[in-house]
Amino acid sequence: MTKSFDVAVIGAGPGGYVAAIRCAQLGLNTVCIDEWKNEQGVASLGGTCLNVGCIPSKALLESSENYARAAHKFIDHGINLEGLSMDVPVMITRKNKIVKAFTGGIAMLFKKNKITSLHGRGALLKQEQESGLWKIQVKNGTEIEEIQAEYVIIATGSTPRQLPFIKVDNNRILDNSGALALTEAPKRLGVIGAGVIGLEMGSVWRRLGSEVTVLEAQPNFLMAADEQIAKEAQKIFTRELGLVIQTGVKIKSIQVEEQQIVVDYADAKADSQKLEIDKLIVAVGRSPNTAGLGADEIGLKTNERGYIEVDEYCRSNLPKVYAVGDVVRGPMLAHKASEEGVAVAEMIASAKQGHANESAKVNLDIIPWVIYTSPEIAWVGKTEQELKSAGIAYRAGQFPFMANGRARALGETSGFVKVLADADTDRILGIHMIGPYVSEMIAEAVVAMEFAASSEDVARIIHAHPSLSEVLHEAALAVDKRALHI
Ligand code: FAD
Ligand code: NAI
Repeated sequence: MTKSFDVAVIGAGPGGYVAAIRCAQLGLNTVCIDEWKNEQGVASLGGTCLNVGCIPSKALLESSENYARAAHKFIDHGINLEGLSMDVPVMITRKNKIVKAFTGGIAMLFKKNKITSLHGRGALLKQEQESGLWKIQVKNGTEIEEIQAEYVIIATGSTPRQLPFIKVDNNRILDNSGALALTEAPKRLGVIGAGVIGLEMGSVWRRLGSEVTVLEAQPNFLMAADEQIAKEAQKIFTRELGLVIQTGVKIKSIQVEEQQIVVDYADAKADSQKLEIDKLIVAVGRSPNTAGLGADEIGLKTNERGYIEVDEYCRSNLPKVYAVGDVVRGPMLAHKASEEGVAVAEMIASAKQGHANESAKVNLDIIPWVIYTSPEIAWVGKTEQELKSAGIAYRAGQFPFMANGRARALGETSGFVKVLADADTDRILGIHMIGPYVSEMIAEAVVAMEFAASSEDVARIIHAHPSLSEVLHEAALAVDKRALHI
């Protein structure tokens, strides 16, 4: 007999697995279908984020930062580590262990929540006329199973965008998976794309000894970030870290020769420049993944860029079919995917009880961004350039980490925090940070903005001393030109 569920979730990344857990918590009989296999060919839950994204990249960033601290900064503390060396395979094994623990953890959470987990590719076949149930095919190699469910949540994520003239082999031409699995630092590493992956991965391998050159098509660096933060970041990454970053380039060809890879590109200086490298990371964005889902056959609407079209409640054009995460509009971030998953699960549970749940909606205007470089970059809300182009009058307050006692003690004094507040109402419109541990500090900014705080509210909140959070406090005071320690 065909197995029948209240909800079928397709994809077990942070959008899908979180949606499945929340559905199960709300008493819905839930199945989650996922096709990911790890390098050993074993099914591995957690999607891009856990397998080849957020978690492994942060593991390598931490290892390489520890190495850089030990090599360059410990000496200031009187700690002399002569003969320091880096064992890259050990670092990769540590990263793999972390990934295994977390992906295995999802399997345990599924068990605990009595979620049926099916391995294979899920495809929507049709909605039965009489029952209204969706028929879904699950294909695992030659094994094919059909199940049915009243509701469907599509959380099929994204895959690396490819350049037309070069094929990723994850040996010499790498995407994020290959960049996370190198077993030695290449002598010369090229990166195409100075976006989030390019900067995080470029930093890892630069710290471990590679000469890293980043080629970026846009004339400006880190276009999504606040311009002032991006400029500060570019200065630090080039002067302190030693990344070579070329902006405004046009890649003309990439030749993979026996001994090296040659990238031919044009920029403002010359029509033909050559970059000779040993390995190349291609990190030029990601594309929504609807391959094999049966989207066209069932009439699921996608836009011209391949994203599944959804409304503010993540509802697709098909009845009882939702989509969340990287496969729909909005930033491609794990926490955004998960929050959409929770919201959709809550909407479905309410609908099953016969009422709408309009509060179950994700606020796309207040999503924190973090780039885990050193120093870290984090922001929430509007940038100065966005406020200017929207004609919104604002006041800005800024404070540097250099003037903060905790940052001095850490020996991490680069960067600053900037608070942007409405000129009339003082409501905070954006908070931008570059500096140590701003990935943690941004949470206060998110809370402030979700509660519609003014800069005066943050200025009047007591912050512990000495702590990095005092930099945000002082930046809020600076909006009203009354920062105390500068
Ligand atoms: P995914 O995580 O992509 O999961 C989709 C899953 O669906 C996959 O397992 C896939 O195999 C499966 N699937 C696809 N189609 C089917 C089908 N038809 N049938 C069955 N299964 C299917 N974000 C952050 O917020 N913070 C970070 O620090 C961060 N670091 C990153 C670092 C790297 C190197 C990369 C590449 C990404 C990073 N991201 C980060 C982005 C983050 O990984 C994604 O935003 C997030 O994984 C999206 O979640 P998702 O559930 O939408 O999709
Ligand atoms: P990205 O969109 O961040 O950056 C891609 C960069 O490549 C852009 O700057 C773009 O201008 C450039 N580019 C595109 N085509 C090019 C070409 N032909 N030549 C030269 N440059 C070109 O994409 P990225 O780095 O691949 O990451 C994908 C997404 O994954 C991110 O946008 C983010 O959503 C997510 N991610 C998040 C992380 C985090 O939250 N810390 C870490 C890593 C990834």
